[in-house]
Amino acid sequence: MSRTRFVCGNWKLHKTVAESLELATAIKNAVGPLRDVEVAIAPVFTALHAVAKRLEGSSLGVAGQDCFWEDQGAWTGEVSAKLLKDVGCKYVIIGHSERRQHFTETDHAVNLKTKAALRNGLLPIVCVGETEKERDAGETFGRIETQLEGGLRELSNDDMLKVTLAYEPVWAIGTGRTATPAQAEEVHAYIRSRLSDKFGSVAEKVRIQYGGSVKPDNAALLLGQTDIDGALVGGASLKAEDFLNIIKAR
Ligand code: 13P
Repeated sequence: MSRTRFVCGNWKLHKTVAESLELATAIKNAVGPLRDVEVAIAPVFTALHAVAKRLEGSSLGVAGQDCFWEDQGAWTGEVSAKLLKDVGCKYVIIGHSERRQHFTETDHAVNLKTKAALRNGLLPIVCVGETEKERDAGETFGRIETQLEGGLRELSNDDMLKVTLAYEPVWAIGTGRTATPAQAEEVHAYIRSRLSDKFGSVAEKVRIQYGGSVKPDNAALLLGQTDIDGALVGGASLKAEDFLNIIKAR
């Protein structure tokens, strides 16, 4: 089964509108037409509209970093999937570990947000991953299973074809401590086997990104693993050259 590689840059809480436009333009100009890889960038909410406009007609997609599960209403401060779609997003990252850790986001919330994204025509990137403590306690697979069960609850096979999963071990995020290709592949293969139990042959079509200190010098080995179908890149996606080298890593 060949799955088109998918690389997404998660800019987290970085860059003004002007800075976002500068970086997005640099990536757009350097990347050219893409054939065997899909690429997206996820700027802050306030830059999404401008960046999406700038990238119109290019091969780069735009992603939100989160969305709310209701489309509209009395929810001060929230941004809905419907509004992300409205400003030109194609994807939305859901359940990033920073949201789980600092904003007490639960698997139930991840599930509601994933359904909201699908309902509004966005392609969700659903993040899972264990903490260092959980890994040390031998709880990695159990933790991932719980996140998959809760986050993907009641999704149909058709829904699942629109979902990308991202395995991001929390201990590897922003730490420079990447999972080894073997460590990452072990969990990716586990995720695919759980997807296969739940969604049958659809599991072979679902892309599973790896995230956690992906850099130009480790991307090729990680992305060369059987079940690693792309990357969710934090720090290295803030430099056009590094991000481009990850996109091209072979
Ligand atoms: P870093 O690449 O900075 O470790 O961040 C990974 C991440 O959290 C992407 O979503």
